[in-house]
Amino acid sequence: MGKFEVMDHPLIQHKLTMIRDKNVGTKFFRETVKEISTLMAYEVARDMPLKDVEVETPIAKTTKKELAGKKVAIIPILRAGLGMVDGMTDLIPAAKIGFIGMYRDEETLKPHEYFVKLPNDITERQLFIVDPMLATGGSAMMAIEALKKRGCSEKNMKFACLVAAPEGVKAVREAYPDVDIYAAGLDDHLNKDGYIVPGLGDAGDRLFGTK
Ligand code: PRP
Ligand code: URA
Repeated sequence: MGKFEVMDHPLIQHKLTMIRDKNVGTKFFRETVKEISTLMAYEVARDMPLKDVEVETPIAKTTKKELAGKKVAIIPILRAGLGMVDGMTDLIPAAKIGFIGMYRDEETLKPHEYFVKLPNDITERQLFIVDPMLATGGSAMMAIEALKKRGCSEKNMKFACLVAAPEGVKAVREAYPDVDIYAAGLDDHLNKDGYIVPGLGDAGDRLFGTK
């Protein structure tokens, strides 16, 4: 079973609380999502494998650690996932970026896929799928399925979001038990319109100033 981790670092909690405020403008919202994403990248990368390498310091030769294993691809679920990419590449600058375009039908709450563009070597990479909101879980599950259809393994997938609803976490974990899930906050429930309560509203609209 993959892990489900709520990141309780004080800086993450503080910044998440700031962007929940409905009076916060687009610029501040976007900058803070980026900052939270950088902090989350640090935690999501915590179990990346290391290998021994020799290095010669100005004083002596020594054997120390460097990253081994799979290289990373960050996969934002469009649109809102885009807001988390730059924060993550600040820490993992060589990551390749793949895109999965998806929107949720406002009536049915079912996701619709409209775009997929992935690096050629996607099946060889450790995948960080990013989307600020995990609500019903429909979009996350369709993104995971799109990656599996192209040969990616669940075991190589980590899903990172800012706010998760218990309903979405349960759905994704039941359908894809090997995918690790990381959330900056776990909220109470979904309302009848499929919004996370208390949540932070529509993440895409708040990031890009649309409404
Ligand atoms: C939002 C959000 C997730 C999805 C979550 O995207 O960014 O992708 O809803 O809901 P779910 O877990 O119930 O599927 P939206 O469809 O609003 O598109 P956008 O990113 O273009 O705003
Ligand atoms: N998508 C959002 O952007 N916000 C929610 O609360 C639920 C889905």
